[in-house]
Amino acid sequence: MSSSDSKLLLYAKQEANQAITFENAGKFHQAINKYERAAEILIQFLRFNKNPIMRQNVQKSAEDYISRAKILRLKVSGKSSRRGTSSTSTFGSADDKSEAKEEGVSDEEQELLDMISGTIVTESPNVRWIEIAGLENCKQSLREAIVLPMIKPELFTGARKPWAGILLFGPPGCGKTLLAKAAATECNATFFSASSADLLSKWLGESEKLIGALFKVARLKAPSLIFMDEIDSIATKRGEGTESGGERRVKTQLLSEIQGLKTSHDKPLLVLGATNRPWDLDNAMLSRFEKKVYVPLPDLPARAAIFRIHTAGIESDLDDEDFIELGARSEGYSGRDIANVCREVIMLPIRELDMGGLLEKSDQEIKVRNINLNDFKNSIKKVKPMTTDSALKQYNDWKEEFGE
Ligand SMILES: Nc1ncnc2c1ncn2[C@@H]1O[C@H](COP(=O)(O)OP(=O)(O)O)[C@@H](O)[C@H]1O
Ligand SMILES: [Mg+2]
Repeated sequence: MSSSDSKLLLYAKQEANQAITFENAGKFHQAINKYERAAEILIQFLRFNKNPIMRQNVQKSAEDYISRAKILRLKVSGKSSRRGTSSTSTFGSADDKSEAKEEGVSDEEQELLDMISGTIVTESPNVRWIEIAGLENCKQSLREAIVLPMIKPELFTGARKPWAGILLFGPPGCGKTLLAKAAATECNATFFSASSADLLSKWLGESEKLIGALFKVARLKAPSLIFMDEIDSIATKRGEGTESGGERRVKTQLLSEIQGLKTSHDKPLLVLGATNRPWDLDNAMLSRFEKKVYVPLPDLPARAAIFRIHTAGIESDLDDEDFIELGARSEGYSGRDIANVCREVIMLPIRELDMGGLLEKSDQEIKVRNINLNDFKNSIKKVKPMTTDSALKQYNDWKEEFGE
């Protein structure tokens, strides 16, 4: 047995275990999805493995999973048919909101929903603009490009069409994912969030189907916002590097889906992509993202605010001026770098207590000391910024050439 074989078996086992967990928790749709996935993986395995005894066992497991999925499917469809037959009309109607989720969904639609659950998150993300320091231009751009077209679609008709594709680009850890979540929270659209790397790696050659399903469900659930994080991992330049046939097909599928968004629909469906590596993006993909928004490193006031946000609720000796000083001392740091500094600092008083053996004596009341400016200064020296000057220049050059 080769190592890739055993990895497949392990992976199938993981999926099957999750299926069982879902089933026990009464989450039947997800359980079905996982059982079928486990079976599919085993079937892939059978294509490569020639050992007769092993094949027999694996075949048996695959059949077990398939029949388990069938049984659950029957169980679930029994439930949904009791809900009534008005299913298809509920879907396209104007008052259908994302909360109505699995209510009144036809079998085929339900299958699509099941298929995307797991890799694609559809919950409301619940991030507010005020939790994001600085980036005022980005926030305004996203309001215009996403929030307003979603909440006031009647203003965006005719020549005033919303941009179908919006791309956030910039150094890692500067708030792209946060901004996407905040925009989604604000506009109350059904939010689909998919990490592109996951799409490719988890789905063993099925990403194409999945992307098709994703867009179909998003259209059904419109107004919808599809967030594709790390889009560079799917949409690399054609023919470059080690692109496999599968990856090429996924990209082609994604391109045509985004292209299809331009033909007008009554309810908005927007695609928001994010990347740390815009220069790796395929030109065809770049042209689909009509609006490109640069998410830069935080400036001084933003850095000060990020220190504040990430130490909120912690007893501290710092005053307003101290936070400004921290902002000044952290030039070149990303939001994530600063978050890391803060995490380090917040742990210090606890670590000191622990090293003094004070946390073990449960009868004593424990007094945790305030964090202070010195803690931050020391920690800033230890945590180095992730973004290099040459990388910054690369972002700026790219922005000049392709940005808004
Ligand atoms: N402007 C900001 N305000 C507050 N926190 C930030 C900001 N930018 C980054 N962070 C922190 O850094 C983390 C990483 O940010 P993220 O949005 O995932 O970056 P990106 O997607 O650009 O790589 C966030 O979860 C947050 O803790
Ligand atoms: Mg991110």
